[in-house]
Amino acid sequence: MPAPRSALIPLPTRVAFRPGHFTLDATTTLRVPHAAAPAAALLRTLLAPATGLPLPASPDGPFVFTLDPRLSGLGEEGYGLTVSPEAIVLRAAHPTGLLHGIQTVRQLLPPEALAPEPQPGVTWQLPCVEITDVPRHAWRGFLLDVARHFQPMSQVRRYVDLMALHKLNVLQLHLTDDQGWRMPIAAYPRLTEVGGRRAESMVGPAGSRVFDGVPHEGAYTRRELTELVAYAAARGITVVPEIDMPGHMRAALAAYPEFGNFPGRRLDVWTHWGVCETVLGVQEPAFGFVRTVLDEVLDVFPSPHVHIGGDECPTTEWAASPVARSRAAAEGLADTAALHGWFLGRVGGHLIERGRIPTAWAETGEGLPARFTLLTWRDPEHTRIALKRGHDVISAQHQATYLDYAQSARPEEPQGQPGGVVDLRAVHAHTPPDDTDVPGRVLGVQAQVWTEFAPGADHIDYLAFPRLCALADRAWHGSPSWPGFRGRLATHVARLAALGVRYGPLDPHDPIPQRSGEEPS
Ligand code: ACM
Repeated sequence: MPAPRSALIPLPTRVAFRPGHFTLDATTTLRVPHAAAPAAALLRTLLAPATGLPLPASPDGPFVFTLDPRLSGLGEEGYGLTVSPEAIVLRAAHPTGLLHGIQTVRQLLPPEALAPEPQPGVTWQLPCVEITDVPRHAWRGFLLDVARHFQPMSQVRRYVDLMALHKLNVLQLHLTDDQGWRMPIAAYPRLTEVGGRRAESMVGPAGSRVFDGVPHEGAYTRRELTELVAYAAARGITVVPEIDMPGHMRAALAAYPEFGNFPGRRLDVWTHWGVCETVLGVQEPAFGFVRTVLDEVLDVFPSPHVHIGGDECPTTEWAASPVARSRAAAEGLADTAALHGWFLGRVGGHLIERGRIPTAWAETGEGLPARFTLLTWRDPEHTRIALKRGHDVISAQHQATYLDYAQSARPEEPQGQPGGVVDLRAVHAHTPPDDTDVPGRVLGVQAQVWTEFAPGADHIDYLAFPRLCALADRAWHGSPSWPGFRGRLATHVARLAALGVRYGPLDPHDPIPQRSGEEPS
């Protein structure tokens, strides 16, 4: 029987444990070709706090990093790992594979290796093992909504580290919404000065009449965002920015009402939850505004995909606006509702001209050019329709990936987004449809933590874990068994605990942990 610590999440494609172990100690050295130096540096960074091991480089070190483009079966992200009593050999075709292999090395060590402070008296043993590991899906995403409740950059980086441990590789940062704008744009300083602050927040679900009376605000600096991109890249993670439009724009319109539909109207940053009627206008200056905003976003975020939202856009304002009505007529559109696809098509064209891939939520998928990558979030059928239309698709189906939904139907569950229960098993079972015989491709899956009801890390931890472990297991391996996952998770939570993650129940019958009284940040 392998030691319990060999319970790896996500499950590797092929893994065979062998008798014996390798021990990392103060004399262990790393044999590192030049191109693997960043991966070796990350290993040192990750292991230093708990182990204090220096792991210096030497030409004949027993811990060997190998980068060989001829290992082409491993793809961009795969790796091979052999642990024997004499040596550790980590190999990949591409540096990103080494980064994922390092996370496996971390999980093979005792869980104390993940602790943030020195752990005296622990022997840093890894079981002997042969692993070949290649991800099933290229997009293994996690959305963090920093618009509804701003999260300090230290927390965003902490989630990057937790994603990396689980070999998740896309952080979608939901930077703007009706309730807050979090990214500074030099040409439009009021976006964060005005749009970054709301007077108070609704208490309870959309439609509630209760408000907390507490202002909420926050915005990142450009430098923080630029450094986040580099921090994530060093861990094999791409940050995909989301600037949600043409709906979900109330905070921007509170700052610059002239880009809305009714000149002279003053708006506040929205204090409600739910779908807001206020949307961007379709007059030419509004497009100029959007282009300027996106051009700065492209400067900060080098990701191929750039998300422009597109979800939940009521068209009542356009129907009531003479400018929007005449625009729809001039463009030959059937009605003002068709402005939605037309708007996104135009903005998407701007991104394509700049070499990026426009990405959007697919409410219906209708009316969008095939060059959009879509996150299908509502109906499982939408994923199939979008694939048939030729889109690249990431499955973000709400009944399996919305981690802001309650994880059980028990009355003591904290306030969640109304919408049903997304339990651990539903997340683990979520498999996107087959994309053979359709023109589009399934890029992968993504979990979302919307933060209307999750003000800070304490609550976000509770929502994200262990359900994100389940999503990572499925997204990386493709077909892990549920009982196998449950068994591995029982061991894996010692790693989460060492990292200070305040995870939720593993089983629908477990008690719900008490959360400390957290301040909205
Ligand atoms: C969404 O949940 N509105 C994408």
